[in-house]
Amino acid sequence: MTVFNQDKKAQKKFTTLKIIFIISGILQGISVVLTIPLFKELFLGNIDKAFSWLAYIGITALACFVCHLIGTNIGNYMSVWEVCDSKTRQIGSSIITLPLGWFDTTSKGKVSKAISTDINVVAHYPPIVLPEILTVLSSAAVIALALLFISFKYALIIFAMMPLMYYFMKKNYQALKLIEQENVRANQKMESTIIEFAQLQPVLRASGALLNGWARLQTALNDDKEAALETLRKKGENTFKYMLVVNLGSLLILVLAAFELKNGTIELYTFVGIAVAMLRFANPLAGLLGYISEVLNIESALNRLNSIITSERLAEPDSKSKVNIANINQFNIEFKDVDFSYLKGIKVLKNVNLTIPAGSITALVGASGSGKSTINKLIARFWDVDRGVVMVNGNNIKNFTTADLMNLVSMVFQEVYLFNSTIKENVAIAKPNASDAEILAAAKKARLDEVVARLPNGWDTKVGEGGSSLSGGEKQRVSIARAFLKNAPILLLDEITSALDGVNEAIITKSLEELSKDKTVLVIAHRLSSIKNADQIAVVDNGQILACDCHQKLIENNAKYQQLWQALSHGEVWQV
Ligand SMILES: Nc1ncnc2c1ncn2[C@@H]1O[C@H](COP(=O)(O)OP(=O)(O)OP(=O)(O)O)[C@@H](O)[C@H]1O
Ligand SMILES: [Mg+2]
Repeated sequence: MTVFNQDKKAQKKFTTLKIIFIISGILQGISVVLTIPLFKELFLGNIDKAFSWLAYIGITALACFVCHLIGTNIGNYMSVWEVCDSKTRQIGSSIITLPLGWFDTTSKGKVSKAISTDINVVAHYPPIVLPEILTVLSSAAVIALALLFISFKYALIIFAMMPLMYYFMKKNYQALKLIEQENVRANQKMESTIIEFAQLQPVLRASGALLNGWARLQTALNDDKEAALETLRKKGENTFKYMLVVNLGSLLILVLAAFELKNGTIELYTFVGIAVAMLRFANPLAGLLGYISEVLNIESALNRLNSIITSERLAEPDSKSKVNIANINQFNIEFKDVDFSYLKGIKVLKNVNLTIPAGSITALVGASGSGKSTINKLIARFWDVDRGVVMVNGNNIKNFTTADLMNLVSMVFQEVYLFNSTIKENVAIAKPNASDAEILAAAKKARLDEVVARLPNGWDTKVGEGGSSLSGGEKQRVSIARAFLKNAPILLLDEITSALDGVNEAIITKSLEELSKDKTVLVIAHRLSSIKNADQIAVVDNGQILACDCHQKLIENNAKYQQLWQALSHGEVWQV
């Protein structure tokens, strides 16, 4: 398990930590072994010699304690800095370099689990799990070696126990690993279903479905219980066999020693010494198995963290191919022979060719799922295309740095995410160095000033998590104010007025008209007004562009468009 994959300094520290805990375990084993000569001298009445051994035991135990203390301190330090702090920073810097397409509906859960749970699980490894495993194993090894000097027979039993213990420990690990995926899946499903259950309360209560009535939740709870029981069964099976080996082995040694004592082959003090050593040998080893599931938990938490940290990034252009943004003054967009799929083998866009002239408005129309939002997002490089090329001013967008491309594009989508701060800060995020006057002007154009005037603390009103204290239309105005403030030359709009009431729609449509001036605009529209205002309209059907022309020509020549227009004119939503 590599916790500190890239960090050489942390790796070195971790190796030192392992050595400290091994030394601590060895010292612990030695202090146990030293009880054998201590008992001997006590039984023989050599009190002075016994005290010497006692002093050695004291010194070894003290050295062991100091080692453990130093190790635990280093472990705690590593846990805070090299795990918690470093992994949180790595996740943070991953988030700003991950492609925008990574942030789908599941990403919020992944990031929140990584930060709130997974990092803490991994943080237990250096100061708790690692010391336990290493000290137990190294002290057991010392006791086993010492027995070799007392009697070859006893050592032989212990050496015979070791491969069996290792075998059952490994089997336990493998069995748990095998069902772990199912366990995690069932657990995540149960967690997300309970959240859904809470969010769907208004609908469920209205339909009379209470806790026992919602089959989906019952299934998720049962699956999770079944997975937990299966884990316990698998754990129990191998734990029993492992414990049997540890306990039977120790018992065999004790019985053998008792016989030898009875026959006079060994002295009483040797017997007592062996008994003490066996107890100190068997007890910690028996507890070791419990740490196997801990190691598995740590491994899978680490895998989840690494899946975010090492997730594939979009390649940045090298200095040779990099487009000099200062030379770009025309912002025409072109899709050339573009294929794209979210899932391997399922093409969502097929041979898309589309030219969006600079400073014009192009509307995308088509059935739900036909690929409109995908086309829109490919311009902002949410993902890279599978085939073909997307160009801005004749340059492949892959040759723009992410920062340059993001500077060229403003996106206003239906779902607006606001962060839990003031309205003003939420607008200002679009241009961090903007002056108050600029922010105010942008807000006025988006008609956000009307909203602010109604709020108790004006510009300093907190919007709540995700903007929960604002209405859909109000959030939309914040998003449009951001776009005004940023004033990027390319504007991507996705069905932003579809969820708004008439008044809000009219206000926002007016703001958008102003925002669109002199910009290259791609708008996904389900409304007649947005379509009519467009310079050209592309009809998207099943991942292909069927036609791209003005309204008049399309209505005359394109059957699909006629069908759409008729549906919209009757106030219906575009469905094919
Ligand atoms: N993140 C994703 N992962 C997998 N498939 C996706 C993803 N996003 C969209 N799809 C699929 O790609 C296809 C095109 O989706 P897209 O969102 O582009 O359609 P749309 O034309 O915008 O539809 P709508 O009008 O309903 O918004 C659909 O079949 C959709 O299920
Ligand atoms: Mg869409």
